[in-house]
Amino acid sequence: MPQKFQTPSGMHDLLGTRAIYFEKIYDTVVKIARFYGFDRIETPLLEDTRVFTRGVGLSTDIVEKEMYNLKTKGGDNLSLRPEGTASVMRSYLEHDMYTKSQPVKLFYFGPFFRYERPQAGRYRQFWQFGLETIGKSGPGLDAQTICAVYAILSDLGVKDVVVEINNMGDAKCRGIFKGALKKYLKKANLCSDCKKRSVKNPLRVLDCKQCVEMKRNAPQIIDYLCKDCREDLKKTLELLEEVGIPYDLNPFLVRGLDYYTGNVYEFFTKGKESLALGGGGRYDGLSELLGGGEDLPATGAAIGVERVMLAMKSAGVEVKREKPQIFIAHLGDLAKKKCLKIFEDFRKAGILAHESIGRDSLKSQLNQANKLSVKWTIIIGREEAIENSVVIRDMNTGSQDKVEIKDLVKEVKQRLKNAK
Ligand code: HAM
Repeated sequence: MPQKFQTPSGMHDLLGTRAIYFEKIYDTVVKIARFYGFDRIETPLLEDTRVFTRGVGLSTDIVEKEMYNLKTKGGDNLSLRPEGTASVMRSYLEHDMYTKSQPVKLFYFGPFFRYERPQAGRYRQFWQFGLETIGKSGPGLDAQTICAVYAILSDLGVKDVVVEINNMGDAKCRGIFKGALKKYLKKANLCSDCKKRSVKNPLRVLDCKQCVEMKRNAPQIIDYLCKDCREDLKKTLELLEEVGIPYDLNPFLVRGLDYYTGNVYEFFTKGKESLALGGGGRYDGLSELLGGGEDLPATGAAIGVERVMLAMKSAGVEVKREKPQIFIAHLGDLAKKKCLKIFEDFRKAGILAHESIGRDSLKSQLNQANKLSVKWTIIIGREEAIENSVVIRDMNTGSQDKVEIKDLVKEVKQRLKNAK
C-alpha cells in the first residue's frame, strides 16, 4: 500500500466547523474594513528575504529563528512571509502609492508562516487579517485602527476584549531609554538568549517570557518619553475613553518586531490566561528601512484568525450555516436533467436549496431531505418529468401538491413568505 501523508507539523487543513467559523470571520472583516475605508491588498506569500530582515529586524525572534527561507533555482533568496506589514510597505513603495491621496488604507486576510514550536494558538502556518494606514499617522488613526479591530471582535461575539497599550518612544527618546536599560541589564540575571539580546537589541529582553523577575526593577520607557510621544499616548487614551474601549497601560509592552515607533498595543480577552489576539502600532520608520522616504507616517494592526476562533468558541459563540428549506429529489434520467435546471432556477432566485444529484434511489434522497429537516421536498418522478411538473411535499404534514415547473419558483417564494 502506498504511504499516506499528513499535514506538516504546525499546519492544518481548514475544514468542517473550523471552516464555518473561518468564513464568518472573513465576512465580518471584509464588511467592517470596508466601512472604515480600507481597500483590499493581497501580497505574495514569498518576498525577497531582505523585506523582513530589514523591515522586521535581524535580531528579532521572527527573523533570527522563525523564518522559512529558500533559494530559488535562479539564485534569489526568498522567505515565506512571517507577517504582513513589511510586505504592504514594500508594495506601497513599489507602486508609488504616495502619489495617491493620503493616507492609503489597506486590509489583508491570508496565511503567514513562522517556524515556532506548535502548541494551542501557535502554529507554523496561521492566518492573519491586518489593517494598515500609510501616509499619515497620529492618535486619531491609532484609535481608529483599534476601534475597527474592536468592532470586528465584538461583531464576532468575542467578549471582554482589553487593549494593552504603551508608547515605545521616537528614535531620540527611545535611544535614551535603551541606554538606561542596557546599563540596568548589565547587572541583571538573564537567560542565555537575553544576554546576547541585551547587547544587540535590549528592548527584546522585555519580551522574554523567562526573564520575568528582571522586569521588576527595570527602567520603564514611560519615564523617558519626550513631550510629543507622551502627548500622543495621552490623546490616544482619551480617544479610546471617548468610544468606550477598555485599555490597560503596560509599560513593558514592546512588541516583537523592530519597526515600531510610538504607540503600540495588543488585544487580549480579559481575565483569561490568554495569548494575544492581535497587536499593532505606529511604524513611521519602516519606509526608510525598505528604501522609501524618511519617516513616512504609518500605523496598523494584525489579528490572528485561529486565536479569534478559539476566543469565539470559549465565548460560546455558535456559527451555523444557513439551513435550506427546500430539497429537490428526482427519479430517472429525464428527471435528473430537470432537477439540475430547477436547482439553477432556485439559485438565480436566491432560494437556498439542496439536491442529491449523485444519488439515484428516491428513498435515500428522501432520507437525506429528512435529515436536513427541510420544510418542503420537490419530487420529480418519471411521470412529472414528462409532464414538466413536480410534486411539492410538505415534510411536516405529508400533504402533496402538483405544480408546473414554470410556476415552481413563484410558488416556493409564496410558501416561504407565508411561512415567515
Ligand atoms: P504580531 O504580534 O507578530 O504582529 O502578530 C499578530 C497576531 O498574529 C498575534 O497577536 C497572533 O494572534 C497571531 N500570530 C502570530 N504568530 C502566530 C502563530 N505562530 N500562530 C498563530 N497565530 C499567530 C504582526 O504580525 C504585525 N505585522 C502587526 C501589525 C500590523 N503591526 C502594524 N501593522
